[in-house]
Amino acid sequence: MNKLLYPAIFLAVTIIVVAMATSSLDVHDRPDTNLCIGECYEEYVAANGTVVEQARAQAEAAAAMNPAELGKAAFAACAACHGAAGEGGVGPQLQGRDSAFITTALTAYKNRETRGEQSAMMWTVATPLSDADINNLAAFVSSL
Ligand code: HEC
Repeated sequence: MNKLLYPAIFLAVTIIVVAMATSSLDVHDRPDTNLCIGECYEEYVAANGTVVEQARAQAEAAAAMNPAELGKAAFAACAACHGAAGEGGVGPQLQGRDSAFITTALTAYKNRETRGEQSAMMWTVATPLSDADINNLAAFVSSL
């Protein structure tokens, strides 16, 4: 009898887990969007454009933003340490620095170079930045 106990428990648990997983995959609170065909779809496209048109509009909006505007959005991640206007705090003051200084410093941190005693703090911040991110940040910070 004991021999069957563990397989039985295992089977019961498996059935419960599978039942829970599959029931949570069902969408209960939304209408079936797959049924938007024909007239419904035409109305949707008239109001919102096709998916391709929507993607193109988003890309155009992003491309229309200049580097400083993009950098301003990215600077939200820096403000806690460097101050909203780059006046300094945990990190040094950035206000008054030109874009070459910012680009050089961020590239160095991205490459895990030591500049000051607390460079490790900036390594974590700079590692995920792309060259474009660095240029955008430099454009914004140098305008502060
Ligand atoms: C967790 C706090 C923190 C965050 C977040 C942070 N920094 Fe820093 N930052 C520092 C510290 C501390 C230093 C000094 C590092 C050193 O000793 O080399 C520094 C140094 C710098 C320097 C060099 C300044 C100088 O005078 O040499 C630049 C440029 C810089 N940070 C830009 C940024 C940008 C841009 C962001 C956002 C993407 C950012 N930091 C986010 C803490 C932070």
